[in-house]
Amino acid sequence: MRYRLLSALIISAVAVVEAAPATATAEYDYIVVGSGPGGGPLAADLARAGYSTLLIEAGGDEGDNPTYAEIAWFNEAANDEATRWDFWVKHYDDPEEDRKFKHTTWDTGDGTFYVGLDPPEGAKYLGIQYPRAAVLGGCAMHNAAVCTLPADDDWNIIVNKTGDASWSASNMRKYLKKIERNQYLPPGDPNRGYDGWLATSVGPTDWARNSSNPATTILKKLAALTGQDETRAADLLGTDILTEIPNLDETSSLYNLAQHADSTGKRNSPNNYVRATLADPAKYPLTLKLHTLVTRVLFDESTVGVPGVTPRAIGVEIMQGQSLYKADPKHNGQTAPKSQILAAREVIISGGAFNSPQLLKLSGIGPRDELAKFNIPLVKHLPGVGENLGDNYEGSLLAMGQTPVNSGLITAVFRTPNAPDARRNIFTWCGAFSFEGFWPGFPTWHGAEQYTCALVHMQPKSQAGSVTLRSADPQDVPEINFRFFKNQGDQDLEELVAGANILREAINSVPEPVAPFVERHPCEGDRRESGDCGEEVQKEYFKSQAYSHHATSTCAIGGEDEEMAVLDSKFRVHGVRGLRVVDASAFPVVPGAFPSCPTMMISVKAAEDIVAERKAEEGAAARM
Ligand SMILES: Cc1cc2nc3c(=O)[nH]c(=O)nc-3n(C[C@H](O)[C@H](O)[C@H](O)COP(=O)(O)OP(=O)(O)OC[C@H]3O[C@@H](n4cnc5c(N)ncnc54)[C@H](O)[C@@H]3O)c2cc1C
Ligand SMILES: *[C@@H]1O[C@H](CO)[C@@H](O)[C@H](O)[C@H]1NC(C)=O
Ligand SMILES: *[C@@H]1O[C@H](CO)[C@@H](O)[C@H](O)[C@H]1NC(C)=O
Repeated sequence: MRYRLLSALIISAVAVVEAAPATATAEYDYIVVGSGPGGGPLAADLARAGYSTLLIEAGGDEGDNPTYAEIAWFNEAANDEATRWDFWVKHYDDPEEDRKFKHTTWDTGDGTFYVGLDPPEGAKYLGIQYPRAAVLGGCAMHNAAVCTLPADDDWNIIVNKTGDASWSASNMRKYLKKIERNQYLPPGDPNRGYDGWLATSVGPTDWARNSSNPATTILKKLAALTGQDETRAADLLGTDILTEIPNLDETSSLYNLAQHADSTGKRNSPNNYVRATLADPAKYPLTLKLHTLVTRVLFDESTVGVPGVTPRAIGVEIMQGQSLYKADPKHNGQTAPKSQILAAREVIISGGAFNSPQLLKLSGIGPRDELAKFNIPLVKHLPGVGENLGDNYEGSLLAMGQTPVNSGLITAVFRTPNAPDARRNIFTWCGAFSFEGFWPGFPTWHGAEQYTCALVHMQPKSQAGSVTLRSADPQDVPEINFRFFKNQGDQDLEELVAGANILREAINSVPEPVAPFVERHPCEGDRRESGDCGEEVQKEYFKSQAYSHHATSTCAIGGEDEEMAVLDSKFRVHGVRGLRVVDASAFPVVPGAFPSCPTMMISVKAAEDIVAERKAEEGAAARM
């Protein structure tokens, strides 16, 4: 009976809502917008806790499409028009800087792209392509599924900012254990999960025991250059990258690359978990709406602009149809009528680092002046929305051998001697592939002799990027400017160069017939005698050719006294009620090298937090 009292309260809230335009009563307790690593697991967990949940996704479901289901096809997936959202981003304020990027993309006007530095007459400059996947499972459906954890400090800083100890690195570990279905470790590791929904697996490393394999020579040299015992290189390559050891963040090592895929090479992502949850509708009240673009969060009008009253989110406005968002290459001017859906409890935004801040701003939450410019009525002035955009800087050393290096993917996480603290700063993987950033049709096939060491800078110091509105039209794409290297950029560039120098020395240890490697970038030519091509040349290379695809931090968690904080430690948007943001935009600092697994971890944390709050409220109501 007491329990009912709470329902009565909810209904009275809904009654207020009905004064707002055109909607009946709330059909769902929770509405989650976006089904990627941030929103997918959360929606499934809320439904599994018994709460009726609507998950809204702009894209469709490609879970059975082999391009997405087979992890080996990740590059095809990221290029696929079925799910692609093209964001044409800036790296710099200065357009001249951006136009040095070798893969800038132009619209030729005849339905094709031009990629390069010498566009045909009349071509329209688009920018630098930044792919995102609009699909059930989000970018975890087209990514390379690399699964790593942030450095401990990347979690602990949230404890420092907010005082919420549940964010400590040691506590966050339990969320990996909760979701993981480990398929590569012997059973029984108490810190790891074997029955979660996210399969993790690793590739073969046996090749490293073959000392006549050229990749083994590179591996050993890389071990020696990063302070490891090269005689143990093959064993070290089997080190689990998700392992928990003291001083992990200060330990340079070779690793076995873990992926969120199963041991047969099938991708695993929130898509699997959402579908498994939908498969049992009698037990789990989850509803999925695909091909639905959320255009705005709705607020109870009686709570907006009233002194002393905190605005309350009560639902979302949507448009239904395919390719409504202009980032979709299939978009062709189509539009759709708007309708509304109400949530009795909360709206949770998980649109990713570009779309979550856009949606908040369209809903009246953001910097006052920016909203005024587009006549968007202000619900809450929050200057941090869309700011603090950060990303890992990436670049690569590409060289052509005389013959192919057939086998052996090398993964290493190491510290360059010029790193600002004791922590590792560079994540690298080397193999017979090429990776030079993103453009329609990436990557370039340079030939069977291509060999790449890709570098990821794990602690970019700038985070001066932003996502800002171009218009109040929810189908429009916001302006995204990363402002690479704006703060302490020289330091980060020097670290990338130091990383490249180590990798160059490692690859040039390779014997004939692969040797000599002829480097294409950052330096050019056979570098065995001449060494590197100098600090300045390489810095300029990384400055103009760096790319990124791990955008985070545009709705950052922070303390109440931090002007630029958007969320509190429980993902609640500061200054409003009934609204959270749960996705990669919540991280105040870039989380290590790869954000996908960390975002899934915060997703299940958010579900736990929300359910705990709800139970506490229900308990309090029952005691009334
Ligand atoms: C090509 C590529 C490769 C990558 N490789 C890796 C990797 O190997 N390892 C790794 O850790 N990370 C990788 N990443 C990054 C990683 O995939 C993302 O950081 C992660 O998916 C972010 O999760 P998210 O939930 O914040 O956002 P997203 O994954 O972007 O999910 C957001 C979802 O919300 C939906 N959405 C957005 N706006 C709306 C709206 N208004 N209405 C309805 N739905 C909406 C979108 O369609 C999308 O499905 C890669 C990214 C790319 C682009
Ligand atoms: C957190 O604060 C403590 C105490 O001030 C400090 O020693 C520590 O370095 C901080 N950690 C992070 C990650 O900021
Ligand atoms: C070891 O590597 C060499 C060079 O790639 C190859 O020819 C040989 O077959 C490999 N040996 C085994 C046992 O795989």
